[in-house]
Parts: sequence; C-alpha cells; structure tokens
Amino acid sequence: MVEIKKLTKENLREAVRLVCSAFPPEGELESADMELPASLNPVGYKDYLDKTQMTDLKYWVAISSARLVGVVGIYSYQYEKTNTAWLGWFVVDPGVRNGGIGKDLLHFAIEQARAIGKKSLKVYVVPDEDGDFRSFYEKKGFKFVGSEPWEGPDEGLTKYYYELDLKGGF
Ligand SMILES: CC(C)(COP(=O)(O)OP(=O)(O)OC[C@H]1O[C@@H](n2cnc3c(N)ncnc32)[C@H](O)[C@@H]1OP(=O)(O)O)[C@@H](O)C(=O)NCCC(=O)NCCS
Repeated sequence: MVEIKKLTKENLREAVRLVCSAFPPEGELESADMELPASLNPVGYKDYLDKTQMTDLKYWVAISSARLVGVVGIYSYQYEKTNTAWLGWFVVDPGVRNGGIGKDLLHFAIEQARAIGKKSLKVYVVPDEDGDFRSFYEKKGFKFVGSEPWEGPDEGLTKYYYELDLKGGF
C-alpha cells in the first residue's frame, strides 16, 4: 500500500537522494537538490527561482512500509501563462519500479495541477539507453507538441515535449 504525502523538511534529504540517484546533478541550471528545498522555502531560494524563472514548486513523496519510494512534483515558469504547469522531478525507487507506483504518482500530480486551476500539464522526455517513456505519457493522454536536440551532457539525444489538456478527463 502506497501513501502519497507532501514533501516535508523531515523527508527532504531522502527525497533529494532518490531523485539525484536517478538524475545525478551534472551542472545543469535546473537541479533537484535546489528545487526540492526551494519548494519548501521559496523565499530562501529566491535567487535560484529568479535564475530559473520557476515558481509555485510543489513536491510529494510516495511512502511504502515507512520507506520513501517515489517523488513527483509540479511547477510553473514565471514567463508562461499562469494556467500552465510542468511535471517536476519524477522518480520511483528502482527496487519497486513497474509495480504501478509511477502511475499513481503521475495521476496524483495531474489531479493536483487540476485542483489548483491549471489547464495544461507539460512534460519533456529524453529517451536514452535507460528507456523511452514517451508511450508512458501517451497512455495517460499526453499529446506530443514538439521536439528539439537535447542540450544536456549526452550528445545526440532528442528532447520531446508532451502536453496534457487538464480540461479533459483523465
Ligand atoms: C518513470 C518511473 C517514475 C515510472 O515508475 P514506475 O513505478 O516503474 O511506474 P509504473 O509501474 O506505474 O509503470 C511503469 C511503466 O513504464 C514502463 N517502463 C518500465 N521501464 C521502462 C523503460 N526503461 N523504458 C520505457 N518504459 C518503461 C513499463 O512497461 C510500464 O508501462 P506499462 O504499464 O504501460 O507496461 C520510473 O521508471 C523511474 O523512476 N525512472 C527513472 C527516472 C525517470 O526516467 N523519470 C522520468 C521519466 S520521463
């Protein structure tokens, strides 16, 4: 049984550790070890939020048998329409993947975005040797809206953008 709870000061360190184990910080502008704490303390992280133009960060964790096994979040950009949200860091512990926790977390994030009045939820996917999660989002109703070369450290990859219309059903 998995419970989805708010990120708190108490579970922050474990949540950052889980996200960074899947996405080791590699000097990109946007990083989990800044965004998760920034979601709890936006005033203290004002410089980071201004630099990245992020706003309204919210994070949740999945707890199973008292263990933190997943993280998901949503955020917006200051320069975008206020009714648009992006899916934030989204990771499930490798030991419990493929058991439906990811779908539960994604569903939860979609409902949270809808509950605060967002009309659209965006995500990007960068398929690599570890997987291609485009169909994971397509099955949830996300539509492909564009692509561009990935500018991260791994060369030759493509960044695919997807968007879910939150006015529709899930
Ligand atoms: C994406 C992630 C959060 C999903 O969590 P999860 O608990 O395994 O999710 P679920 O069990 O609900 O569903 C897993 C789905 O992903 C698919 N999947 C599993 N591994 C995959 C891979 N390497 N590539 C593509 N799809 C994969 C499964 O087939 C399943 O889809 P199906 O039910 O339609 O068959 C998890 O795989 C993860 O943490 N990955 C590493 C971090 C990451 O890449 N996050 C962002 C993805 S854009």
